[in-house]
Amino acid sequence: MSMAGSQTAADVLAADGPQSRDLFEKFEPLIQERDRLLGTGVRDPFAIVMDEVKSPTEAVIQGKDTILLGTYNYMGMTFDPDVIQAGVDALKEFGSGTTGSRVLNGTYVGHKDVEAALCEFYGMGHAMVFSTGYQANLGIVSTLAGKGDYVILDADSHASIYDGCFLGNADIVRFRHNNVEDLEKRLGRLPPEAGKLVVLEGVYSMLGDIAPLDKMVTVAKKFGAMVLVDEAHSMGFFGEHGRGVAEAQGVLDQVDFVIGTFSKSVGTVGGFCVSNHPKTEFLRLVCRPYTFTASLPPSVVATAATSIRKLMHAGNKRAHLWENSKRLHKGLRDLGFRLATEEPESAILAVLLDDQEQAVRMWQALLEEGLYVNMARPPATPAGIYLLRCSLCAEHSAEQVEQILGMFESAGKATGAIG
Ligand SMILES: Cc1ncc(COP(=O)(O)O)c(C=O)c1O
Repeated sequence: MSMAGSQTAADVLAADGPQSRDLFEKFEPLIQERDRLLGTGVRDPFAIVMDEVKSPTEAVIQGKDTILLGTYNYMGMTFDPDVIQAGVDALKEFGSGTTGSRVLNGTYVGHKDVEAALCEFYGMGHAMVFSTGYQANLGIVSTLAGKGDYVILDADSHASIYDGCFLGNADIVRFRHNNVEDLEKRLGRLPPEAGKLVVLEGVYSMLGDIAPLDKMVTVAKKFGAMVLVDEAHSMGFFGEHGRGVAEAQGVLDQVDFVIGTFSKSVGTVGGFCVSNHPKTEFLRLVCRPYTFTASLPPSVVATAATSIRKLMHAGNKRAHLWENSKRLHKGLRDLGFRLATEEPESAILAVLLDDQEQAVRMWQALLEEGLYVNMARPPATPAGIYLLRCSLCAEHSAEQVEQILGMFESAGKATGAIG
């Protein structure tokens, strides 16, 4: 076969061969919506770069000193001197990474130590540390609930919980967000003999509302289900020992598995599952997102262990964080903003806005004032809501909270979000 002019063999194949569909085609509506939005001149809320981070509450973004109000750094442990020192020491002593899975060469003494710290923190017998909280949910949900089992979950569950259901091939039964009656109704329809895992969260991160875990756990147990509670946004802050909403509501002893993350109150990266179930250790051998990935670097587990042990004695920080949350909630309400919860239920306050355009304009106006918050939109948010998510830190001072309120007032008036 001769080829005309500069035509290559690949060109000929492309012209004659089967025309498969562009794999990016499904993203086209989203690409166009994004282009339209950025075409109006607004900054991309999902492409912020921190040039410098000065403390848990302050950074420099595009040359401007900025207060951080969207980092989930609830207890402000990222700059704790003991935490940093532990990381530096481990980096020097054990090197920069493990280059291996937890079940091969990737378990160092530091990994066992952070698991011991978690057992101490929760008063439980077993802890398994994953490389992220996402992988902890992915791994534990998919490993416990396989084909033929049921996962009964709140409709507003985190993406990692949904992904765990898909990976495990379990049947998914959703109940209405925080609705105890709906949970009971749906459990009642399932075959009594089937394996059941009820998955709940302590604090729901989009609206900052808490779950009625006391009632839900009672209902789940009535139907013989195992209960897993994701306390990602409540660890360190809720309950006498900072164990989460299950502790605060007095049902921790009935929860089979607690999932958590090091990326929020603990102030680094990683995820975990703690449990008193006697067969927990076996999960290490059958849980794919635990086995088939490299373990956390030694410096990370050392910072996590130090942070977790300090969080066991952080009653003052917890009290100050509650004060911050209450002060900001009241201040925003007084200014005329609509908030997702009537009262401050956690360290997350969600400011509800009319639509995407208003949310992005408000987000940008706040950034220009020197305040960073998270912009959140569907599908991450429930019911098509656009919101600005504020997460407070125990290291925010009362003066910073006042400054934040001043910034919200200016930005709200400039964008028409408040009168
Ligand atoms: C409820 C919940 N679970 C799990 C995770 C995942 O945590 P990580 O950041 O450690 O992957 C998050 C993170 O946003 C979360 O909000």
